[in-house]
Amino acid sequence: MKFDILTLFPKMFFSPFEESILARGIEKGLIEIRTINIRNFAQDKHQVVDDTPYGGGQGMVMKVEPIARAIEQVRAEDPSAWTIYLTPEGKPLNQERVKELSSRSHLILLCGRYEGVDERVRELFIDEEISIGDYVLTGGELAAMVLIDAVSRLVPGVLGSDRSAENDSFYDDLLEYPQYTRPANFRGYEVPSVLLSGNHQAISLWRRREALRRTYLRRPDLLSKATLSEEDKQILEEIAKKNR
Ligand code: ADE
Repeated sequence: MKFDILTLFPKMFFSPFEESILARGIEKGLIEIRTINIRNFAQDKHQVVDDTPYGGGQGMVMKVEPIARAIEQVRAEDPSAWTIYLTPEGKPLNQERVKELSSRSHLILLCGRYEGVDERVRELFIDEEISIGDYVLTGGELAAMVLIDAVSRLVPGVLGSDRSAENDSFYDDLLEYPQYTRPANFRGYEVPSVLLSGNHQAISLWRRREALRRTYLRRPDLLSKATLSEEDKQILEEIAKKNR
């Protein structure tokens, strides 16, 4: 999986991909992350990448030509690359969208700054606009990092054989069950005894129940699209009764 990040601040991306799981994914050749400095595609002497908005108003707008040239260069190498513009005006990112993106082989991520990009960039070069949440960042760079992190961990082999995305929150539209590790007793707070029982069936049932309980209490909106068995529905009824 290849990511090309178009940005005015390539240095922002140095350390996040040098640690832990993503660093190993890069080392194994499963993911490739390249930053492309939009400024290198400005053709005037001063390498100008932004200008004042037509019609007046505050701030600066990123110019169309340098971005156009940068995207065209990547597309000349790989016409199948899918181009995403990170913006609070985009479609909200969720796990379903992350999964869809992980099936693509090459993403171009355009990071906006200032008052955003000239509208013609969006009309002519962008396949999809994505927001990582209803708040405004100083630029698309952190949003691009979030997207790359979430998508990369779904690329086969990146998480390694001992980990899996199958138990993730949202994997089956439920939040994850609680996890514990040693010690079994921390200042009088004990790990639920079922987890120490060695009874795998009882443990599975407890985990399912806790995932359902947590989702019911924290994110009831998720339950309407989750795939629930008859047993799940019964458990939910019990949980609802207790919390009335
Ligand atoms: N750029 C600025 N804010 C953003 C957000 N919330 N999501 C994606 N890109 C952004």
